[in-house]
Amino acid sequence: MNVRITGTGSALPGKILTNADLEQMIDTSDEWITTRTGIKERRIAADGEYTSTFAAEAGRSAMAMAGVKPEEIDLIILATVTPDFPFPSTACIVQDLLGATNATAFDLSAACSGFIYGLSIAEKYIRSGAAQKILVIGSEVLSRVVDWQDRNTCVLFGDGAGAVVLEASDGDHSLLSTHTFSNGAYWNLLYQPGSGSRNPATDSRTIDERLIYLTMEGNDVFKYAVRGMEDVALMALDANGLSPSDISLLIPHQANRRIIDATAKRLGLDSDRLFTNLQNYGNTSSASIPIALDEANRQGVLKPCSKLLLVAFGGGFTYGSALINW
Ligand code: UT7
Repeated sequence: MNVRITGTGSALPGKILTNADLEQMIDTSDEWITTRTGIKERRIAADGEYTSTFAAEAGRSAMAMAGVKPEEIDLIILATVTPDFPFPSTACIVQDLLGATNATAFDLSAACSGFIYGLSIAEKYIRSGAAQKILVIGSEVLSRVVDWQDRNTCVLFGDGAGAVVLEASDGDHSLLSTHTFSNGAYWNLLYQPGSGSRNPATDSRTIDERLIYLTMEGNDVFKYAVRGMEDVALMALDANGLSPSDISLLIPHQANRRIIDATAKRLGLDSDRLFTNLQNYGNTSSASIPIALDEANRQGVLKPCSKLLLVAFGGGFTYGSALINW
């Protein structure tokens, strides 16, 4: 049983926050942000827009492309670190918004690798025969957990969602492999200290000490990201008996242009085999790869039977790769 991506979709807030806007808010510059990260602007959710809002819109768009009705979906996996609520899962809210009445729905927490983890789980459900049609979504509203007084982090992140429909298939156009890894030894290099059971939102200290916001040791994360992305990319290639020259397009997690370029260089991939859009959206965590995949798909960049390599790295640490024969 093969596993085919039959539809892609994405959804982004209308509000754009540029580097020039950030210059008015904090001590930063377009020059610093551009040279250190490659980001020029990011999208920010408006009042009344939530993680579920973008997830449902991206999911609807992916289902429309696949020609799949909501009631046909067996499983909804929603990767996010910014759920609407601690519980119930945002996936259940999305199930309701979509009318996917026959689905099982759950959230998945693997930070920026969440979408690849979701693909990996979906692949196993389909190959085992436990599900036929699955919606995997990455959706984030990071602007609500970013400290807008912290220039080290607030310039990096953005909001949005991407989604794919996966279906059982007996053709060649298939997900060839997924690989996922975690290294919990570094959990505290990128995390949100407050609002969970350690530092509850009800504790005034959580607010007073700004624990509610995400925090990151950027330099350390950078080093592990480059090494980790290369490692998971090579695992995908090894598992399929392929070399970097066989890859048509690398779609990496969009965290930092320098991380992406270093990864591509280590793999020997030129920029024409690299898809990037972080200049427009910043780091949207679990949403970044499915948004990029949808854009590449709709731009006609993905040719039938081209080999796509998706690689992610994120908080946890978590790592993941997926190789697709498109
Ligand atoms: O998505 C999950 C994974 N996340 C990542 O992969 C992110 C990984 N990390 C990074 O992308 C980079 O480490 C950053 C973009 C976060 C930072 O870049 P860097 O080249 O590592 O800069 P740095 O942290 O070493 O900071 C250099 C200087 C510091 O000033 P001093 O101490 O040298 O005087 C910072 O205070 O840049 C300063 N700085 C800024 N200056 C202007 C930090 N943020 C800003 C800013 N504007 N926004």
